[in-house]
Amino acid sequence: MKNLEQLSLHNINKSFFINNKKIDVLKDINLDVTPGEFVSIIGPSGCGKSTLLRLIIGLSHQTIGSILLGGRELQESTHEVGIVFQESRLFPWLSVYKNITFGLENEHLSQKDQADVKEHLHLVGLENFADAYPSQLSGGMQQRVSIARALISHPKVLLLDEPFGALDAITRIYMQQEITRIWQTEKSTILLVTHDIDEAIFLSDRVIVMSHRPATIKNIISVDLPRPRDRNSYDFLLLRKKIYKEFFNEIEMPFSFSI
Ligand SMILES: Nc1ncnc2c1ncn2[C@@H]1O[C@H](COP(=O)(O)OP(=O)(O)OP(=O)(O)O)[C@@H](O)[C@H]1O
Ligand SMILES: [Mg+2]
Repeated sequence: MKNLEQLSLHNINKSFFINNKKIDVLKDINLDVTPGEFVSIIGPSGCGKSTLLRLIIGLSHQTIGSILLGGRELQESTHEVGIVFQESRLFPWLSVYKNITFGLENEHLSQKDQADVKEHLHLVGLENFADAYPSQLSGGMQQRVSIARALISHPKVLLLDEPFGALDAITRIYMQQEITRIWQTEKSTILLVTHDIDEAIFLSDRVIVMSHRPATIKNIISVDLPRPRDRNSYDFLLLRKKIYKEFFNEIEMPFSFSI
């Protein structure tokens, strides 16, 4: 059983320099994510959502602020945090099995590790595809390999950056059900970036709405709907309407917009 801990973002500010010109991307981001919570982040394109995930996983550093897990500063390249990117980023020359085990510290897997890989292949429904190569899989299957790869080191926090963005609508709905099941089985804290408001409501305990760049947290909406969620229930539709309003207030539309 994982010892889940609170993820805390304290006063996160991030700026980039492009041609000596400073671009403020994130401004005063404060967020505490409860252990085991599923939180979604939505916001305008280019506001800084991926930047925030890159800071948490240590691929980039905040200009100001701190990121804590269980009260400790997160270390670089820690196995405590895993990430799935929008595109699957699998190694095309490695089998599914080798892709999943690639990041593990020991090249020679113990029997326990091998059993663990098998379990994760089962978890993502790919037990019969261990020897397949990425080009032999559908987009949804490739993303499931990426999820298994992120989960194999048993991260306490799983970051998902629009992981289903490239999938068709039906596969996407299927993957949303799958990720719910995986979250309930694995019991990780999940932070999901998505552009899909229905996806955010279907999956999350809370939805974070970010503003234009420099991005601040504009609103946090709790989703107190029973699971499994019914996308057509009255309460779901009410929440959808509320979040659409929040979201589209942030986006300058080239046409008049009503919901
Ligand atoms: N390495 C970098 N160097 C300079 N600027 C960067 C870098 N990475 C991101 N940015 C800038 O930071 C801003 C936020 O980018 P980011 O990728 O976080 O946006 P996003 O919210 O994930 O957008 P999208 O929804 O389109 O994926 C953009 O203006 C981008 O140009
Ligand atoms: Mg992004």
